Amino acid sequence: MTIDMTPIPELIARKRDGGELTADELRGLLTRYLAGGMDDAQMAALLMAGVIRGFTRAEAVTLTEAFIASGDRVDLSALSGPTVDKHSTGGVGDTTTFVVAPLLAAAGCQVAKLSGRGLGHTGGTIDKLAAIPGLRTDLSIAAVRDQVERVGLAVAAATADLVPADKRLYALRDVTATVPAPALIASSVMSKKIAGGASTIVLDVKTGDGAFSPTVADAAALAELCVAIGEAHGRRTAALVTDMSQPLGDAIGNALEVVAAVEVLQGGGSLRLRTVSLALAAAALELLGRGTEEAHDEVTALLDGGAAFARLADLVRAQGGDASVLEAPRERLPVAPVVRDWAPPAGTVDRIACRRLGEIAGALGAGRERAEDIIDPAVGLEVHVRLGDVVDASGASGGRPAVRIHAADEAAAERAASALDAAVGTGPGPVEAPPLIHRRIGFADAAARA
Ligand code: URA
Repeated sequence: MTIDMTPIPELIARKRDGGELTADELRGLLTRYLAGGMDDAQMAALLMAGVIRGFTRAEAVTLTEAFIASGDRVDLSALSGPTVDKHSTGGVGDTTTFVVAPLLAAAGCQVAKLSGRGLGHTGGTIDKLAAIPGLRTDLSIAAVRDQVERVGLAVAAATADLVPADKRLYALRDVTATVPAPALIASSVMSKKIAGGASTIVLDVKTGDGAFSPTVADAAALAELCVAIGEAHGRRTAALVTDMSQPLGDAIGNALEVVAAVEVLQGGGSLRLRTVSLALAAAALELLGRGTEEAHDEVTALLDGGAAFARLADLVRAQGGDASVLEAPRERLPVAPVVRDWAPPAGTVDRIACRRLGEIAGALGAGRERAEDIIDPAVGLEVHVRLGDVVDASGASGGRPAVRIHAADEAAAERAASALDAAVGTGPGPVEAPPLIHRRIGFADAAARA
């Protein structure tokens, strides 16, 4: 294959001036970048030009294809059941994978999920799984396939060979403020999903302060682009646009988020986390041909009957973890030495800086500032208040502390408490809470396609 060798500054200038790059030009740029013939400064300039001027849909499709072609593709075609994957664009307290993957496995789907570590203020599935003693996530693709055939689900760290171009580019975007362009996010997400091999893909596109897409319109446009790319590659694809203007579940932090997911799988826990998890799992069944209500009733029965919880235990055992911790996760998973409650002044909650809450949990040790930082699985926040909730004079809301800080030491707890003063606030109210699920995208023709 011949590589387009148009001078790189000429192509950057065209993008800077609002022009479009051809498929050959874009492919050529990516090939040259990966081979060392285009440096980081040039790629960052091109990305920034695209963030400001916008990339076209055709450019997004080309980027996705070039990303996929840069590495291995997982072949799941030999598996016996319908293969399903779900992806979230990232959020705070967003621990749906631990509920949705077991739910789908309980519904007879096969879920091979290749996940990443935390990014910026958002948590990562692999870091959360690492809180479970003994559990391995460094599985080979062959081991993932074998486990999925045996127990219906596997959640493993994405291997270095899966879309390596995205890994290089994502690291550069992260440090050059060039993450939030719909075409860049869509090609990054969809290349990994398509290379991951599942035939049905459900996306959870977040919107709000804690997400990469601040407005519902931005998130819906991103969701539509992702769905179009998935469909063009022959995958049944749909998306929910869900709220990330406040944390999804109550827990932010690795072991705490496993506890939160287990509580939902045991029939309790956060109603918000339960609602979005059920909606995502039901969306996959809808894509596979169930009616909307039928799909919802099926996943609700699997959750409430304990079938999904049993599948999470299967996953933990299959990956070498101690599944007995799931019976009493709050006691058996790592526990922080310092636990301190914090509350805003009495009143109605009218301000939640969602991204900031993710950063505060990160600063407690739940996230990384540099790639080499070590995560503390035990630390984080439990945020029991949402917009419109009333906090009483004792600092409680609905009988629970507004926020519980889990810290490695007193000084860290003190820093978190001061940061919370600026992140969560109250007023006279009333305050209207935003909806949890804003849009459903890509379902219109699902029944016809199934
Ligand atoms: N998640 C991804 O995988 N890629 C992006 O670009 C943004 C969120």
